[in-house]
Amino acid sequence: MQIMPRAWVVLAFIVTISFACGPTPSPPSPYQPVASVRQLMIDVIDPAADVVWDSVGTIVSADGIEELYPKTEEDWNSVRGSALIMAEAGNLLMMEPRARDNEEWMEMAQAMVDAGSAAVSAAEAEDVERIFALGEDIYYSCDNCHMKYDDM
Ligand code: HEC
Repeated sequence: MQIMPRAWVVLAFIVTISFACGPTPSPPSPYQPVASVRQLMIDVIDPAADVVWDSVGTIVSADGIEELYPKTEEDWNSVRGSALIMAEAGNLLMMEPRARDNEEWMEMAQAMVDAGSAAVSAAEAEDVERIFALGEDIYYSCDNCHMKYDDM
């Protein structure tokens, strides 16, 4: 009979496939989360966002109007570095055990990554107006998430 060997080949194939595709135990994660969401907010994200927000603006006082913007290389380095911290901290929010769900939380953390990395590019280009405009995007990326998830 011709059919038998062929059937064995098919069976062997199926067995191979099910081994290859079967659930494999995932290796333990190498990440060791240190900060809670709250600690990240207070010690990492908020100070970094403040540097970006405070870097550009207008101060009106009795002495007149002062335009505020990064001037030296050092000023720009500080804005760029803080934008980078903010962007990468968005990734930290998406990690276990900080992510609150796999949907909106992820989108909102991603929005912070996007706003932060846009600010990194603007700082690299030393684009004052763009930094100012992105300040608003950054603000909304924080606020949207707080409206939904910050129940304090
Ligand atoms: C993906 C969601 C998310 C994003 C994005 C986010 N936050 Fe938060 N934030 C939270 C949550 C949740 C809490 C409450 C944490 C807690 O108390 O356990 C919080 C709390 C805070 C707090 C502490 C408030 C308090 O109770 O004293 C500060 C400050 C803060 N966030 C700043 C920011 C800033 C600034 C940004 C944007 C640059 C930002 N957050 C973006 C989710 C987010």
